[in-house]
Amino acid sequence: MLAIQKHYVQWLENKDGNETLHQALWLSESNHVPPARIVLVDDKTTADDAYRLACEGTSLLWRGDFHNARQLLQALKRRIERTNERAEQRKMKKAANKSAESSASITESLGIPNLFHQQRQIQAQRARILSRLLLELDANYVSQLRRAPDVSAACTAAFGQLDKSIDESCVLSFRDLQGALGAAQWREKGVPIDSLGVSIFPHYGVFAPTRHEYVQLLLDAPLPAVHDVAYDIGTGTGLLAIILAQRGVNQVIATDLNPRALACASENFTRLQLPNVQLQQADLYPTDAPLANLIVCNPPWLPAKPSSPLEYAVYDTNSTMLRGFLQGAKSHLAKQGEVWLILSDLAEHLQLRTREELLGWFADSGLKVKYRFDTKPKHGRSQDNTDPLFVARSSEVTSLWCLEAA
Ligand SMILES: C[S@@+](CC[C@H](N)C(=O)[O-])C[C@H]1O[C@@H](n2cnc3c(N)ncnc32)[C@H](O)[C@@H]1O
Repeated sequence: MLAIQKHYVQWLENKDGNETLHQALWLSESNHVPPARIVLVDDKTTADDAYRLACEGTSLLWRGDFHNARQLLQALKRRIERTNERAEQRKMKKAANKSAESSASITESLGIPNLFHQQRQIQAQRARILSRLLLELDANYVSQLRRAPDVSAACTAAFGQLDKSIDESCVLSFRDLQGALGAAQWREKGVPIDSLGVSIFPHYGVFAPTRHEYVQLLLDAPLPAVHDVAYDIGTGTGLLAIILAQRGVNQVIATDLNPRALACASENFTRLQLPNVQLQQADLYPTDAPLANLIVCNPPWLPAKPSSPLEYAVYDTNSTMLRGFLQGAKSHLAKQGEVWLILSDLAEHLQLRTREELLGWFADSGLKVKYRFDTKPKHGRSQDNTDPLFVARSSEVTSLWCLEAA
């Protein structure tokens, strides 16, 4: 059952000539505030009108055919892209008029960190506009729309059960619903981790290991001579704990703050029959645990504020988790224990952190580098040369930093 604080949305609806006030529970994964203004839209609403209303801050409750809502969302995306492209061209033209610089050098002159923050703002604005297309589901997550698929299992898995005793319907963004449907597919099919010969089944809202080049780093790194106890800090789906258990660590203790991650990891451990892996909900380190011969962690790698709960696996305000992890490591290590930190250097290419800073944090935590293994990410974004941050993304290296007590 949903244990979050309840918020409601209201709108006027005309039925048989009578306009009545309707109310429904508001569900928002991104913690968006309940929309103040909702109008009803359907198959007759043009994409241009929908776009204009959404840009003005009006939310659109869909009453047409389910599949047409999907088409409308695509049409909104195209309009956002066109608007952004035009804005970009105007900016370039204006700057080019002022100086003889080329577009590329103008982009450069903006400064990479500014470009990164600007891109995030554009993404956030895009998400806000798209999330204004809403739909209503009943207390069993059933949609009354024409040609609506059965979304009830996917929504229950993603958002928890609604309070059926009150029989209240809910309103959510079509995008959040798509997220829940996508997650349900991943959860059913799994993500094959070829180098490990297993599939991992991510849950909604849990970091899915789709970029898993770093798995090979964990398979290649020599285990410490004594490897009775290991911790996996911020376990997510449980992937790193599974690697350690499969490599023969006797006892693995995995932690995460996110309850969805704990449920997900637990399911993956059970599926793979790994009784020697234990789970704890903890802010970083487990309590009442023996000292570790090995501590692994793949923290969120970009020091910036997450803008939704789904971003907590990627963004870490002021590198709080990374620094907290490093500061606590030495006191949890057994003699001759090792820390394996998995970290992308994208933050360095985006000039959000320097290598010296990172090395300084190691030293301040009483740790020194024993060795480092590197890998180049192969995911789509690192190869997309139309991405304004391509130079930074294509230079990214993910490393396994093996650290030991200094
Ligand atoms: C990049 S994901 C890595 C997940 C997994 N270890 C993997 O490699 O696929 C980072 C994880 O750290 C978790 N996390 C963030 N802050 C945490 C904290 N203070 N304590 C424990 N876990 C945390 C997040 O919930 C997320 O599951």
